Amino acid sequence: MSRCFNFSAGPSELPLEVLEQVRDELLDFRGTGCSIMEISHRSKAFTEVHNETQQMLRSLLDIPEEYDILFMQGGGHMQFSMVPLNLMAPVSADPSRRGGGCYIVNGTWSRKAAHEAGRLGGISIAAEGDETNVPQQQDLRIPEDASYVYYCDNETVHGIEFNYVPDTGRVPLVADMSSNILTRPFDIRKFGAIWFGAQKNFGIAGLTIAAVRHDLIGRAPENCPVMLDWKSYSSKNSMLNTPPTFAIYIANLVCHWLEKQGGVPEMAKRAAEKSGALYSVIDASDGFYSGKVKPAFRSRMNVTFWLKDESLNDLFVEEAAALGLKNIRGHRSIGGMRASVYNAVPTEGATQLADFMKDFERRHG
Ligand SMILES: Cc1ncc(COP(=O)(O)O)c(C=O)c1O
Repeated sequence: MSRCFNFSAGPSELPLEVLEQVRDELLDFRGTGCSIMEISHRSKAFTEVHNETQQMLRSLLDIPEEYDILFMQGGGHMQFSMVPLNLMAPVSADPSRRGGGCYIVNGTWSRKAAHEAGRLGGISIAAEGDETNVPQQQDLRIPEDASYVYYCDNETVHGIEFNYVPDTGRVPLVADMSSNILTRPFDIRKFGAIWFGAQKNFGIAGLTIAAVRHDLIGRAPENCPVMLDWKSYSSKNSMLNTPPTFAIYIANLVCHWLEKQGGVPEMAKRAAEKSGALYSVIDASDGFYSGKVKPAFRSRMNVTFWLKDESLNDLFVEEAAALGLKNIRGHRSIGGMRASVYNAVPTEGATQLADFMKDFERRHG
């Protein structure tokens, strides 16, 4: 068997120990005589996994009881719709007049989220970044009657990460943390809601999680489709219908793995080491490699860079792959290279990629 170092932006690498445990209990899940994929979501064996996963996530992220943890499907794109449907609150006695969402836009995913919210109600833009930076607190314009302020904590395509939590006063703050959840401690009490897809740092595609403060649940309009109302998940412990059982099981194993590794603080330390190793090579390369994101906002998860001579791109990708360093091509919308160093990518993967980059520069620079 030969496993590569996988720098995919998502779905992405899983911890080897998790995959091994899946393999070991695939045919007979803990004495049930069936795989976990073959048992009812209401069975004792599965509900134990489901409840434990919620509890472990609560503890890993220090989420207090005033927040509900919801397990959903539909991915990030469904949350782009659910956030406005659930949070655009009535601004007057007339329930059809709802306060708009206010969006900080600085990359692909916040732009998509703002666009979808704009289809569903009024929105305003608090500030716009130029896809190399993060708008700063003093630049945010937040209308008084905004129902919420929304931003994306880590823009996966461009590799831009917020270096602060916006202060929005009394207006609830909502964050898309799809690509950096569980990679650094943060204080959820500063947020009304956060959400993330599982397929980068919490397992596999098919599971989407939100942590929502109680008072923000139950605000969706009467005619909101049941499956798009956070309340439907919160009132039924995310078991309104059949949940994505296999994805929840994988998330459970990832929680155990994270705990064993030392939890979120340890992940933060490793993320700084891994991304730091790559940014150091870029900065020392005298233009052979260059990044576009301003250093203060460089993502610790998605390291984006360009080769000065783009005719070397294919060779760079091929040679890296031959060394087992895979999936480093940049997003199709912006080109270049992108190495995603999520939690499951070992530090050794990042150092081997950094060594390869130095060697490639020596031979072609
Ligand atoms: C930060 C972020 N938000 C949202 C999305 C969209 O997620 P999905 O593909 O699950 O709809 C992605 C996808 O990579 C992402 O990285």
